[in-house]
Amino acid sequence: MDVSEIGKKITQLTGVRAIMADIKESLGAGKSFINLSAGNPLVIPEIGELWKSSLSKIMETPDFDSIIGRYGDSQGYQPFVGVVKDYFRQRYQWDISERNILITPGSQAGIFYGTNMFCDQSQPLLLPLNPDYTGYKSSWVSLEDPLTVVPNTSIVSPHTFKYQVDVSRIRQILTQKKVGAMAFSRPSNPTGNVLEDDVFHEFASMAKEYDFPIFVDSAYSEPFPGITDVSVDMSLYPNMVYSFSLSKCGLPGERMGVLVGDEAVIDKLECFQSNATIHSSRLGQAIAADVLTEYDFESMCQRYLKDLYFKKRQCVEDVLTHVLGDLDWYLHVHQGGLFSWLWVPQLKRTDLELYAEAKEKGVLVVPGSMFFHNAESISNKELLNCFRISLTATDEDIRSGVQIFAETIKDHLS
Ligand SMILES: Cc1ncc(COP(=O)(O)O)c(C=O)c1O
Repeated sequence: MDVSEIGKKITQLTGVRAIMADIKESLGAGKSFINLSAGNPLVIPEIGELWKSSLSKIMETPDFDSIIGRYGDSQGYQPFVGVVKDYFRQRYQWDISERNILITPGSQAGIFYGTNMFCDQSQPLLLPLNPDYTGYKSSWVSLEDPLTVVPNTSIVSPHTFKYQVDVSRIRQILTQKKVGAMAFSRPSNPTGNVLEDDVFHEFASMAKEYDFPIFVDSAYSEPFPGITDVSVDMSLYPNMVYSFSLSKCGLPGERMGVLVGDEAVIDKLECFQSNATIHSSRLGQAIAADVLTEYDFESMCQRYLKDLYFKKRQCVEDVLTHVLGDLDWYLHVHQGGLFSWLWVPQLKRTDLELYAEAKEKGVLVVPGSMFFHNAESISNKELLNCFRISLTATDEDIRSGVQIFAETIKDHLS
């Protein structure tokens, strides 16, 4: 059987998928590991109770049979679409109607629709943040590489740094090439960075000026799960679509993405969804509608998620400081999300070599070069000496895993 060119691209086990396959194989081989690579959010019992209680309630309503027993609208289960509209109108004073909303089977599906609806060889996808979410690599089936920009780095304190987008380079690209769409995560997976408001505004005005959609991947953002430590401008600009997710606040298995934004863009994505999957699960949407209506969900997320991850992040920093002391290492300033991002510019091994060595010692992290788009074109290889450390492990695993990992780094630093 011959697969298409797109099929070849999609089935290639490149980058992070190869690493994830390696990790899965290692985990399945019987040896035990401290797993600091996982992206799976923690199960929080207090939040889980909300979903369970809403599910039990819905199961007793007369609507239950039709919720699970009938097809519905491609846009989403209408009671949930209405709840989402009211929620965002009230929370951010967004001037939206139902036509600005699309419910997708996970937010990744929404980005998949968006990039493939608007991007191809003649108008590629622009990924202004680099590194950024690896899902964008595989979510775009065009054979053309996305357009990316090498980030600037600034040292913020002795052991923290921050990426800055080279905005002038992005402007330059826009004058030279037609762009199909722009996408970025805010807060970022993997770095924990939150794109600054002034750059966010500038991107919004570029999208308007050059007339392309801009997808703001808000999987970790307020209002839910709200795993952020900085206040951000949540304005809804023309051409903009926010992609929210219920995955990090307890429903990853239900695949619940919530896209809110420009009506013309949403309308096209609904056509994509209608062809691809018809619609997303109605039961998940019915549960979410009840939870958003009946509880102060945002406060629950603040109370049970935000502090938890920030404490774990602090634990990573404490152990690194203890082991690596005054050596040359930097954590990205952590403004949100589920990961710590470590940069060791002077490392005498590649990130892949160090990943393999840590794995031998029973610790799994993700090598950072996997998250750089077009990594092979980055000439300053020091930029790639990074690692993503997940904050979703137990405190004990974080403490002992980071200790072993930091000692491994230390062997190749001085
Ligand atoms: C930045 C980012 N966007 C999207 C997703 C996918 O989320 P969902 O489960 O809603 O498809 C993830 C998952 O880890 C993510 O980190």
